[in-house]
Amino acid sequence: MTPMIMDHPLIQHKVSLLRDKNTGTKDFRELVSEIAMLMCYEATRDLPLKEVEIETPLSVARTKIVSGKKLAVIAVLRAGLGMVDGVLKMVPAAKVGHVGVYRDPETLLPVPYYCKLPVDITEREALVVDPMLATGGSAAAVIKTLQDNGVKSIKFVCILAAPQGLAHLSEAYPDLPIYCAQEDERLNEHGYIMPGLGDAGDRLFGTK
Ligand code: PRP
Ligand code: URA
Repeated sequence: MTPMIMDHPLIQHKVSLLRDKNTGTKDFRELVSEIAMLMCYEATRDLPLKEVEIETPLSVARTKIVSGKKLAVIAVLRAGLGMVDGVLKMVPAAKVGHVGVYRDPETLLPVPYYCKLPVDITEREALVVDPMLATGGSAAAVIKTLQDNGVKSIKFVCILAAPQGLAHLSEAYPDLPIYCAQEDERLNEHGYIMPGLGDAGDRLFGTK
């Protein structure tokens, strides 16, 4: 499935501010949350609807509400945590799961270390959130973890992606819908997205 690059002007604008090295932790956090909210709006465009009758103060309206599977937001620790609030603003009833994976700085390979999912995860559609898709190793490990736990319906939402990460993830999971705000040029020799925004986790949590 071809990754969907979300080029909405508001998303573009906010990603530009996010990239700026002078954007501090507070603004960085707010921007990640706002971008996640806008991306969630797009990523949920295909949610099924059903017709209902609603009594207005004047009459009865035949109108639509979301039906089908409920959502679970899956945050990839740490940086994915920054996107959870934004998604929950759009879908307040969603449950939240956490999958911990860090990237070994030498090998750049993913090291899974934590997984806590909603008990009814197999009945939910999972929206995996992580701002950065670099080599794609972490995302692929998370998708595998979800599939191993019986999750059938999964979407992946990131803010910046490197071409290598998009290729890796879509080759490993050809049916996985991938949503991304911007595709960058390349990875540097340390596996960082270029021009990128730096280390998303450190900028979100002020750890460097
Ligand atoms: C970052 C980011 C992704 C991963 C992407 O996490 O949030 O999870 O790197 O890299 P990849 O596509 O090459 O696997 P990091 O490993 O820095 O962990 P942290 O958020 O806990 O600092
Ligand atoms: N993780 C990040 O936080 N930033 C990158 O550029 C690559 C991986």
